[in-house]
Amino acid sequence: MTLYTSVLDLIGDTPLVDVSGLSPAPRVRILAKLEGQNPGGSVKDRVALAMVQEAEKEGALRPGQTVIESSSGNTGIGLALVCKVKGYPLKIVLPTNVSIERRQLLETWGAEILDSPGTEGSNGAMRLAQRLAAENPEWWFPFQYGNAANPKAHYEGTGPEIWRDCPDVTHFVAGLGTSGTLIGAGRFLKERNSTIQVWAIEPPPGEMVDGLKNFDEGFVPPVFIENNGYELLDRKMIVGPRESVEWTRRLTDVGVLAGISSGAAMAGAAKCAGQIEEGVVVVIFADGGWKYLSTGAWTDDIDQVTERAKRIIYF
Ligand SMILES: Cc1ncc(COP(=O)(O)O)c(C=O)c1O
Repeated sequence: MTLYTSVLDLIGDTPLVDVSGLSPAPRVRILAKLEGQNPGGSVKDRVALAMVQEAEKEGALRPGQTVIESSSGNTGIGLALVCKVKGYPLKIVLPTNVSIERRQLLETWGAEILDSPGTEGSNGAMRLAQRLAAENPEWWFPFQYGNAANPKAHYEGTGPEIWRDCPDVTHFVAGLGTSGTLIGAGRFLKERNSTIQVWAIEPPPGEMVDGLKNFDEGFVPPVFIENNGYELLDRKMIVGPRESVEWTRRLTDVGVLAGISSGAAMAGAAKCAGQIEEGVVVVIFADGGWKYLSTGAWTDDIDQVTERAKRIIYF
């Protein structure tokens, strides 16, 4: 048995599980990387820890300094966990329309929540955090959309883990938020094998499908631009709220309880599998389903859940 000295040592090294039972093509395997197994419950634990460690190393973050960040949930929760363990006070700007569990988790790990208007989504939360950070230069503002440690966490963690566990990967599929996952892990995989395809999942413009971002709506994260994201991505696929919820439900057929953006990513992985003869698709499930239970995503009428999905930010 391995003994870990800190919960933070449990971040990363997540399992890859075969969900080919849901593949529409008999000769295409689909493997899902379960990021919900991280101690804070999502892929963003990796990014939170990497940003904090990098800032500590550079001297941008000093003991006891206040941290401020905007998040529609997962990055905030990851930071709340890391900051609690390391002793940094944390303020999270959070849109009002996120699921109640997100708010509760942030509070559980001691973050102070600053509300931003739900109608403005994650972009509104980001703008408010930027303004507050500018007004309070003594706070440290990681700014995940522009922080090089975000894609780096995936270049050094997620990507190598996929390559180690599945060198046969032919397609890499993930949702597009800050783009850190796709840029970091996608670049690592392409450097190992340039034929690997990197496919991004986006919501339709104007829709808040579990909050994945559509880059045509105006804001393209600096980490995407600075890393030549448009050249790295081979395809972008649009997945709507209903499809995301349908696939999130279907995942339980193979025993997986994952978040709504994982349903969106799985819908994209299945489309990808349907378009190729044979191959191995690796798809990222960014978080588990636990903190979406209050939304009724699995249990309520699908039309109602789809309608709600357009108003609630699910990621
Ligand atoms: C649940 C969920 N899915 C997908 C994403 C997108 O990941 P990335 O920001 O690396 O593009 C996020 C990011 O916030 C997320 O929280």
